[in-house]
Amino acid sequence: MFETAAIETEDKPEFYRQLTQQLAALLESERDFIANAANTSALIFQMMPDLNWAGFYLMKEGELVLGPFQGKTACVRIPVGRGVCGAAVEKRQSVLVEDVHAFPGHIACDAASRSELVVPIFRGDEVIGVIDLDSPIASRFDGDDQAGIERVAEIFLTASA
Ligand code: SME
Repeated sequence: MFETAAIETEDKPEFYRQLTQQLAALLESERDFIANAANTSALIFQMMPDLNWAGFYLMKEGELVLGPFQGKTACVRIPVGRGVCGAAVEKRQSVLVEDVHAFPGHIACDAASRSELVVPIFRGDEVIGVIDLDSPIASRFDGDDQAGIERVAEIFLTASA
């Protein structure tokens, strides 16, 4: 059984170095996409401070559909171009929102959310889904978090069929 180790550092690049190392070890012996997405969300939610939601939306028949996650129940379907998740798919790049109240079209699944980071997952050239992180704290995420979660997405995808 994989045992997570608490990450004590205040240094974000070092935090993500340790997080991605643990993620690679966690996913090492499993290829199942949904099982690995579930464990990736659980590891993120357990290890990262100040989150109220962490999980996946996956592209199905042209729209995002809720995937494995940790946190409160969430909206199930998000059209491409809607909300922060839909914007990340449309732009094919990560979207970092410091204050969700100032983001036009933000979809409030949990009224407590104040900031959000959405990272697209690519298979080849195709966006197959996103990783979405929500925080109850404004400006919780910065460029180090974006780079770290983009690396998480790469490790998840490489490990999963
Ligand atoms: N806030 C997201 C919707 C998903 S929930 O946060 C889990 C958005 O605007 O796309």
